[in-house]
Amino acid sequence: MKPIADANADLVKWLAENDLPQHDSIWVGKSWQTSVRRNLMRWFRKDARELPWRQDGSPYGIWISEIMLQQTQVATVIEYYQRFMKSFPAVSDLAAASEQTVLSHWEGLGYYRRARSLHAAARKIMDEHGGEFPTTYPEVLALPGIGRYTAGAILSISMGKRFPILEGNTQRVFSRWIASRAPVTDRSAIQLLWKVAEATLPQRSPGTYNQAAMELGALICRPTAPHCDRCPVSKQCQAKQSGIQLEIPGKVKQLTYLDRMEYAFVINEKSDPNSDSPQRYLVRLLPEGGRWAGLWDFPRSTGQDHRNVRDASGGIKDEIGLEVIPGDRLMIIKHAVTRFRIKLNVHLAEGHFIRRSASSSPGPWRYASLEEMGELPMSVTGRKIARKLQLMHDKEAS
Ligand code: ADE
Repeated sequence: MKPIADANADLVKWLAENDLPQHDSIWVGKSWQTSVRRNLMRWFRKDARELPWRQDGSPYGIWISEIMLQQTQVATVIEYYQRFMKSFPAVSDLAAASEQTVLSHWEGLGYYRRARSLHAAARKIMDEHGGEFPTTYPEVLALPGIGRYTAGAILSISMGKRFPILEGNTQRVFSRWIASRAPVTDRSAIQLLWKVAEATLPQRSPGTYNQAAMELGALICRPTAPHCDRCPVSKQCQAKQSGIQLEIPGKVKQLTYLDRMEYAFVINEKSDPNSDSPQRYLVRLLPEGGRWAGLWDFPRSTGQDHRNVRDASGGIKDEIGLEVIPGDRLMIIKHAVTRFRIKLNVHLAEGHFIRRSASSSPGPWRYASLEEMGELPMSVTGRKIARKLQLMHDKEAS
């Protein structure tokens, strides 16, 4: 094949250096790149969704929205974003809040490390940047929880700086544009897609272009049923032109799930049965470095498969120094964490500490009433157990 007449020299050089054969593909040409960019941006200016962070547009607002949008759908994020911005309208408000308060605003969004990193980054911005969001790539990248994608998104969208982005939606969109069947787990394919992002990025309004590419993935270039008939770049799209859009992205090897039995215990504080004060239950703040760090949960076994409830209570004794005498099963909660499919058996139980006293220590253990738990940030399963207990209490009272 003949070389492309108006080839983008940087891209061709990079392809040659990396032994990639695509130097004669149409998408290395500047006219292809200009058409994609123009058609995409015209469409976005007409059809973009109105989203609260797009109206805000500040580095702080864009940062919060981009962190929330990682692994979470726009429809879910909107309400969380509005509540978060109301409670923490500026970096200084976020930095001044306690981590527990920040986590409470995150409860239900998942991937809680994002919230803890946001909080740590806000404090760093106060300490090192006088409370102003930094404006250079290395400074933004040095903030906790910010990688190449998020730094590019913040700098381009809120400051108009020319940095490319690549995330889930754009990986699929760009793969289709260049008809790359490689699965998105392939590292060299990802590097190539970053090059596509860079080569198509305009000098003017790079932030609009980046948002438009993501928007196309969210609204038109959908994973299983792309709306090619409504797509502003279907003429340029190499996958569509060859009719292979449904084969892209290439299949990622299916994760094999492992089944695991875990156990949680609902332990009532021994209290005077005639007292009017509400029942309180033992909960603990989950430690650093583990699953759901910084959130509260009922005592439970983690990270091990237990054959039965006796086996699990032995495990809890070794793991957290709590002697448990299990009683009836209250409920079963099924959930998945990474590659484990967990069946969590929740039992009523009696318990006492063999290594520490819950009542005398301010440490990670406390007894909390259901009302108090309403204020604590809790793990997903901890919250389900608390809701179940609340339902039982309401039933008893009626
Ligand atoms: N997904 C993540 N960030 C986005 C944005 N700014 N616009 C559209 N979709 C997104």
